[in-house]
Amino acid sequence: MIKSCQFMIFGATGNLTYLKLLPAIYGLYKEGELCNAFQLVCIGRKRLNLDQYLESLDLKYTKQLEFETFKNHIIYKQMDFSDKKSYECLQDYLGAKNWIFYLATAPRYFETITTYLNDYGYLKEIVGFRRIVFEKPFGANFHDAKSINKHISKILEESQIFRIDHYLGKEMIQNILLTRAYNSFFELLWHHDAIDYFEIVISEKSGVKNRGGYYDQSGAMKDMVQNHMFQIVSLLAMDLPETLIPESIQEEKAKVLKKIEVTDNIVIGQYNGYLNEKGIDEKSKTETFVALEVKVHTKRWKDVPFYLKTGKAMVEKYAHIVVHFKKNHTLAKDNILVIQVQPEEGIMLRVNSKEPGVSNNVTPVMMDYCHSCLKYGDEPSAYGRLLLDIILGDKSLFASWSEIESSWLAIDKLQKPELVIYDKNKPWESHIVLEKGWWQRD
Ligand SMILES: NC(=O)c1ccc[n+]([C@@H]2O[C@H](COP(=O)([O-])OP(=O)(O)OC[C@H]3O[C@@H](n4cnc5c(N)ncnc54)[C@H](OP(=O)(O)O)[C@@H]3O)[C@@H](O)[C@H]2O)c1
Repeated sequence: MIKSCQFMIFGATGNLTYLKLLPAIYGLYKEGELCNAFQLVCIGRKRLNLDQYLESLDLKYTKQLEFETFKNHIIYKQMDFSDKKSYECLQDYLGAKNWIFYLATAPRYFETITTYLNDYGYLKEIVGFRRIVFEKPFGANFHDAKSINKHISKILEESQIFRIDHYLGKEMIQNILLTRAYNSFFELLWHHDAIDYFEIVISEKSGVKNRGGYYDQSGAMKDMVQNHMFQIVSLLAMDLPETLIPESIQEEKAKVLKKIEVTDNIVIGQYNGYLNEKGIDEKSKTETFVALEVKVHTKRWKDVPFYLKTGKAMVEKYAHIVVHFKKNHTLAKDNILVIQVQPEEGIMLRVNSKEPGVSNNVTPVMMDYCHSCLKYGDEPSAYGRLLLDIILGDKSLFASWSEIESSWLAIDKLQKPELVIYDKNKPWESHIVLEKGWWQRD
């Protein structure tokens, strides 16, 4: 289906646009998802002409044949977000069309950009839609997020607001709900009588790379836990609505996040060498690793811990979710359901089975489904999928204000423990968490 839609990206000379947004829009273009007349207005602060901007992309895909036609749709516009006058000339591009304004910027610009776009009348939905995408993090803490939300809600209808968390666009994160909804045996066991605990791990091999300035203000707790990881908890813990429509999904997730509590079981760490990275305060106490226990205070999840772990400079890059079912026999291993998010995508189930041969010994075996193996062609990236949903106005994979509000409240309440320094790319277990004893219950 060809989508008639134009994009205006604020922050188009930033890391996010270069690495994620432009490749995603280009991917949609190549797949024939965008109409021939689409425009992509890229706004950055750097003084560049269009050729210089295109050269600055310097990515593998710009050498592809299709890029030659794609680039004809790009317009580069230099401006400072806080200069109201410079918004005036944007009307040259904004005709009677559907527009998506993508704020790929720090949240401190959300109010300013929305206000000025509104002052010039660009957000009125007279002909076609006007939707604004707010990148994560939505605010720097609860009060900041609340003030942003109050401000934008005065200007925009809720249907125009898209609070993005790209993790929700990942195939296997989307698959959490579908696996639960369409496999009766999982849903029948999806409660505290049958599940012992959940484990959610997002492990990154790299350090802060060139994003030190941003990361040092944020740390793992605000960069990963408040948004991606709490969203995953909400998908695992929510009650399934009768129909999986966007409003019901958001409502059920919000109910979970209202009941979320981070317990005193927290470990935070910082990798050795972090203080020497570019953009980092030399006395920084920012955590690059966090492991914590979360409880969801609902009947369904009575006494079931959700263990969350995420860190930079770990041994491997991977993300997975493990559901540990209660054991029914001392000799058996616990049944586990593993949802692999990256790098491979798939689902594994550990069951206990008879060993082949004459004995009656039982041994754990993994049933393994490889989701990524079945993919064909260039499937849209997480950002590509989410952009398509924005065009369609489908908010199933976006966060409501209520979800964000509860997530910030839970994080802001936290008392951080003392920071542990750990060695880069060494097993985290030996340094940080295992000695505390609560993380792995196997
Ligand atoms: N990078 C990622 O993978 C990623 C992933 C998820 C979320 N995010 C979030 O997305 C936001 C942007 O991230 P990023 O990594 O792209 O940041 P970045 O590399 O620092 O880029 C910021 C962008 O904003 C522009 N900008 C800043 N102040 C401006 C001003 N006053 N007027 C006009 N333009 C201005 C910069 O323009 P100039 O460079 O021309 O000065 C640049 O285009 C952040 O909140 C980040 O947390 C990033």
